[in-house]
Amino acid sequence: MLYDKLVRPLLFGLDPEFVHRQTVRIGDTLSQSSLACRLLTQIYHTQSEVLDVKVWGLDFKTPLGLAAGFDKQGQLHEVIAALGFGHMEMGSISLQPWPGNPSPTLLRLPQDGGLINRLGLNSEGAQIIHKRLRDRQFQIPTGINLVKTADPEIAGEEAMEDFLEDFRRFYPLADFITLNLSCPNTVEGKTFEDPEVLEPFLKELKKIRAEQAAPQRVTPVLVKLSPDLQDRELDRLLGLAEEHGIDGFVIANTTLRRENLKSPTAELEKFPVGGLSGRPLKEYAQQMTRKVFRRTGGRLPIIACGGIGCDPQKHPAQEVWEYLELGATLVQVYTGLIYRGPSLVRLTNRGLMQILREKGIPRLADFLQTR
Ligand SMILES: Cc1cc2nc3c(=O)[nH]c(=O)nc-3n(C[C@H](O)[C@H](O)[C@H](O)COP(=O)(O)O)c2cc1C
Repeated sequence: MLYDKLVRPLLFGLDPEFVHRQTVRIGDTLSQSSLACRLLTQIYHTQSEVLDVKVWGLDFKTPLGLAAGFDKQGQLHEVIAALGFGHMEMGSISLQPWPGNPSPTLLRLPQDGGLINRLGLNSEGAQIIHKRLRDRQFQIPTGINLVKTADPEIAGEEAMEDFLEDFRRFYPLADFITLNLSCPNTVEGKTFEDPEVLEPFLKELKKIRAEQAAPQRVTPVLVKLSPDLQDRELDRLLGLAEEHGIDGFVIANTTLRRENLKSPTAELEKFPVGGLSGRPLKEYAQQMTRKVFRRTGGRLPIIACGGIGCDPQKHPAQEVWEYLELGATLVQVYTGLIYRGPSLVRLTNRGLMQILREKGIPRLADFLQTR
C-alpha cells in the first residue's frame, strides 16, 4: 500500500536510470551490513517448507527468484536473499568490460505495466566481478548469467572464444549458469541462437564442462530463450540443447515486439529499439513456456519470467501459479519489483501458500510432480 500510494509515484517522477543507480547503491551498502540484512529478513521473510522445491540437486525455499539484469555486477546477493527470494541470477556478465549504450536507456510504460530497456549489456567484465564473487558463500541458489561481450568488433571465432572463456571463469563459482544467447556473434547480426553458431558453441561448452566437473556435483547449465523465436528456430534450438546436455531453460528474455500497447506512440517512438519487459511480455512468455514444456515432455525444468507483479488487477501469486500450471518449475521477476516494490516477494510467497491451502495441496513439490 505504502509503495503503491507514496513511493511509486515519487520514484516514477524521477529519471529511471537515476532510480536504478541509487537502488543498486543502497542495496550494495545494505548487503555489506549483516545487521541490516537480519532486519530485512525479519520484515520480509514468510517462508515455510510447503514452498520448498528441489531441482538440479539444489534446494529452493520458494519458486520465486530474481531475474537477471537487476544485479548485473554481482553486488546485491545478501540483500536479495534477505528480501525472501528463493534464488537469483547475477549478470549478464561479459568477459570484457563493456559500457553499454549512452543514456537514455530505460523507458517506463505505466499504462502497460511495462518497461523498455536498451542498456546494451553493460558489464564491469569478468575480471572485476570474478574477484568480487570468488570467496563468497551464496545463501540462496545463485545463477550466473553470461553473455558474449557486446562489443561488435568481437565477431565470429573470436566471439565464440570470448563467450567460452567467460564460461570457464564462472562455471566453478555458480550454483547454476544461464547462457544469454541473444547477443550478436557476427557483424551480420547472427546471434548464438542461430543453429550454425549454437551447435559448435555447445560442443565446446560440453568439453569444458567435462574437464571442469567436480566429482561430487555437476553445475547445471540453462539456456535463456528469446520470446521472439519462430517455431522452427525454437525446435532446432531445443533439439541442440538436449543433444548437448543443457539442463533447463529460462523463458523469457525481453521482446522486440510492440503489439497492443496502450502507451502513446510518441513515447514508444523514443525507443524504437530495446527490449520490452513486464505485462505485455507475459502472453509471449506463457505461450513459450507451454510450448517448451510440451515439446521437451517436461524433461528439462523451466524457469519462467515475464510480467509477474505488473498487473494491478491480478495477484502476483496467481500469475506465478499460471506459469507453474503451464510447466514452469521456478519463476523470476524483475519489472514487477519496479511496479510493486520489495514487498512483492512476501506478497507472492504468502499468496502461493494460500493457493496451496485452497486447493488442498500439502506441498508445492507434490503439485509439480503431478504435471
Ligand atoms: C532493465 C533490465 C535489464 C535486463 N538485463 C538483462 C540481462 O543483463 N541479462 C538477461 O538475461 N536478462 C536481462 N533482462 C531480462 C530479465 O531478466 C527478464 O527476462 C525480463 O525482464 C522478463 O521479466 P519481467 O517481465 O519480470 O521483467 C533485463 C530486464 C530489464 C527490465
